[in-house]
Amino acid sequence: MNGKNNNDLITKIAHTDFPIHKLIARRWSARAFSTKKVEKLKLFSILEAARWAPSSRNEQPWRYIVFTDDNLERLDKARSVLLEINNYAKRAPILICAITKKTYSDTGIYNKLHFHDLGAANENMFLESFNQGLIMHEMGGFDRDKAKKVFNIPDGYEIGIMIAIGYQDSHKILPERYREKANFPRERKPLSEIAFLEE
Ligand SMILES: Cc1cc2nc3c(=O)[nH]c(=O)nc-3n(C[C@H](O)[C@H](O)[C@H](O)COP(=O)(O)O)c2cc1C
Repeated sequence: MNGKNNNDLITKIAHTDFPIHKLIARRWSARAFSTKKVEKLKLFSILEAARWAPSSRNEQPWRYIVFTDDNLERLDKARSVLLEINNYAKRAPILICAITKKTYSDTGIYNKLHFHDLGAANENMFLESFNQGLIMHEMGGFDRDKAKKVFNIPDGYEIGIMIAIGYQDSHKILPERYREKANFPRERKPLSEIAFLEE
């Protein structure tokens, strides 16, 4: 069920065909970020959640460069790599550049699963953000070449995605194209299209 409260904050609970954990049902990619400061303890809980994700050979290839409104100069640098379609995220008090290490540390061999494992850690962050009463948005829409330079990414590492985290604000602050979208229900392919039971 979709629901709005009096502050125009939007809750989007997935219409699931089978029961799932409420955090998974409630997580969604909101865009209306409040500029309100996020408590450091909440940020650390979110990063801690990423830390406990599973990974191939327990390599834990994820790395996070975290920019907050404690250092506006650095945060502005992070904002500058976002594409125009992601301008909404420039209000967020936290931007994160999520990176992976491409090789296994013990053998130096290429880790085919490095992006897979980053995704698992990011989803942990997403769920913990909602658990902390915050919203989060993952963004592939950023200038990779610029980001590599601005964030000084060393060889052997690759940028996966930019992440915005913060409190939710009224969807009325969003530009028109996103304001309407904010009220759309979340949609998914039917289970029969993604899972095949070999019985
Ligand atoms: C890897 C990845 C990249 C994404 N890039 C963007 C982006 O650049 N801009 C944006 O507005 N949303 C982006 N999204 C959000 C997706 O559009 C969103 O997750 C999808 O529509 C499903 O909606 P939901 O997360 O609310 O369930 C991205 C999501 C993922 C996982």
